[in-house]
Amino acid sequence: MTPDLPSPGFPIARPRRLRYNPLVRGLVRETELSAGDLILPLFVRPGRGVRQEIGSMPGNFQLSPDTLVDEVGAAKDLGVRSFILFGIPPDKDATGSSALRDDGIVQQALRAVRSAFGAGVLLMTDECFCEYTDHGHCGILHKRGDSLDVDNDATLTILAEQCVSHAKAGADVIAPSGMMDGMVGAIRRGLDAAGFPHIPILSYAAKYASGFYGPFRDAAESPPQFGDRNTYQMDPANGDEALKEVALDLAEGADMVMVKPALSYLDIIRRVKDRFRVPVAAYNVSGEFAMVKAAAAKGCIDERRVTLEILTSIRRAGADMILTYHARDAARWLR
Ligand code: PBG
Repeated sequence: MTPDLPSPGFPIARPRRLRYNPLVRGLVRETELSAGDLILPLFVRPGRGVRQEIGSMPGNFQLSPDTLVDEVGAAKDLGVRSFILFGIPPDKDATGSSALRDDGIVQQALRAVRSAFGAGVLLMTDECFCEYTDHGHCGILHKRGDSLDVDNDATLTILAEQCVSHAKAGADVIAPSGMMDGMVGAIRRGLDAAGFPHIPILSYAAKYASGFYGPFRDAAESPPQFGDRNTYQMDPANGDEALKEVALDLAEGADMVMVKPALSYLDIIRRVKDRFRVPVAAYNVSGEFAMVKAAAAKGCIDERRVTLEILTSIRRAGADMILTYHARDAARWLR
């Protein structure tokens, strides 16, 4: 019965009838959450034996390729099968050239994890330049009037190269996050020309200029050195514009689309799902994670209960999959 159908009304209608027995509650539960829906973000940097905890993100580490393999193995044992990799390169320059090298940090990480686990894990790669540029912006800069800004079309060229390099190193899914116009089309053409027409693109289609990325920028050592990301990431006040971004990305060949962050944008997740009926991912970002951890550490909330409630709410809003730093804990609790 949906609310818009005629109801007999009280006392014939008693919604509580379906809440007394936990097994009945289970039968009528509308939203399922399982470890298979979760994607764990991981940060990789050069070296051996590195396992450096990220201060604002308890339980998350900067890892070297060898310890990354251990981390993936441990998460896999808990039931997490999908991962998204972020690289912290040894050197940065104006164009982020270390992102394109065959022996770049993400490329090394892909090979190491693949040789350890084969097809038993799904490896996604975040495609952006903010971790690789010395200025911390998500592409190549040029002058626009009196200020420096990201050169959209010049960035598309290197973005496609980065994606092809990651596909060659074994990425299963390519996830561009830079919010450049035309990025999905450029990447699709690049992948197809390089012999990767079967590799799907998960576009960060509706990515907002958000304060909730704070802890990530420490983790990935990628804060912008001047200015902000407001000329490429979306204004948090806009909803219709997210639908336009998604429509454009789908027209360019995106196979899946993402809304990011998740919690302040549950309405956007729902609108995208209702309008397009395509696979939707939501990124439960670093600041959202850090707030839960901080409140739990203070004893203000029950971490397990709140985490599962948050992840369920993102699924209920319409997300098919969730990128989340809670993936390991949630998988353990859902066993
Ligand atoms: C860009 C990127 C960012 C995040 C994922 N990809 C940061 C940004 O746009 O500044 C944020 C993820 C998080 O906060 O957890 N490469």
